[in-house]
Order: sequence, then structure tokens, then C-alpha cells
Amino acid sequence: TPPISPLSITFDGQTGTMSPEGPVLTRRMSDLAGLFADTAAWEAAVADGDPVVYQVASSPVPEAEGELPQSITTILPGTVAGEFHMTKGHQHPNPQGEIYLGLSGTGGLLLFDGERPQWIDMAPGVIGYIPPGWAHRSVNTGDEPYRFLAVYPGNAGHDYGWVLANGMGHRVYRGEGATPRFEPFTA
Ligand code: F6R
Ligand code: ZN
Repeated sequence: TPPISPLSITFDGQTGTMSPEGPVLTRRMSDLAGLFADTAAWEAAVADGDPVVYQVASSPVPEAEGELPQSITTILPGTVAGEFHMTKGHQHPNPQGEIYLGLSGTGGLLLFDGERPQWIDMAPGVIGYIPPGWAHRSVNTGDEPYRFLAVYPGNAGHDYGWVLANGMGHRVYRGEGATPRFEPFTA
């Protein structure tokens, strides 16, 4: 991929769109196989319209060595048997850091290094830092869309199998009031 020219990107934190825009990825409930604890409730949701769980709108900056691609993720509100809507989660096989900036709604960043789960509350104006070697998943803990901007090294890569094999340390459920409830993940 040839290097991209300097550019200005306009984004709307209330709608999750970028201009100019690159690829937009849509993940439906059926794309999240094996991730929610309650398999029967997940199957019922797939059968009942297979709703969109999240979308990722990318800028035109390519995922190539030396570049710093950006994307805005929008996670729609909801649960599967009380477990909050979330991203698939991944490790960067090329261990490199990443930053998330909260744009709208409320959510959290679940991090796992294979031993210790960590949680960062995310809201507009909060930067969550993901150190190299920490798998990461985003969770919408509110009743409106949760949006964040991600900036990451273009050669970091995405390993989704690691999360299927190791989990994320915790599962995140709707709790009392605004506080999520965490349960240990058992594979
Ligand atoms: C990139 C990154 C985010 C996620 C996005 C969707 O390294 O961490 O842009 O890719 O939030 O989550 P996943 O990739 O886990 O489906
Ligand atoms: Zn990442």
C-alpha cells in the first residue's frame, strides 16, 4: 500500500460517521457466535431478526506498517439475557498499543492479559489506553448508542481466536442502577 497523503478527517461523535470515509463494517448478532454466555438466548436473538450489534466506520487511512488508522465504533444498546452488547474483542498479534476516545453514550473497555481482567469506564472525553499485549473488548453499559474513536498502529493486526480460546476474564451484565455487574469468565 503506498503511503497516504496528509489529510483532514471530519467526524461526528453523535452519529459515528467520518468524512472522508473508508470501509464500514457491520457486526450482527450472528457474527458473535460463541461469545455470549446464554447460547439459547443468543440463538433466539439471531432467529428474531439477527439485529445489528455494532458498526465500525473507518477513515481512509490503510492498515499498513507505519500508518495510524482510525475508526469509530458504535455499539447499539441491549443485552443477551442480561449480558451487555459488546464487540468480539481481539488481541493485536503484533503487540502494539492503542488509544480509544469516548465520543457519546456510556460504556467500558474490558482488558485481559491472560491472567488479570481490567475495566476502564468510558464516556465522552475519556481516553482509554490499551497497552501492548492486552486483549480488548468494548461494552455498551447504557441505554443509548455508545461510540468511541480508536487509533492504532496499522500493522497491529487482529486476532479474534485468542478471545474465543481464552475469554476476557470477566463477563459484563446489567446490574443494579448504573453499575454493571461482573462475573468471572469460565471457558
Ligand atoms: C482496532 C480496535 C477497534 C475494534 C472495533 C471493533 O484495533 O480495537 O477499532 O476493531 O471496536 O471491535 P472488534 O475488532 O473486536 O470486533
Ligand atoms: Zn485493537
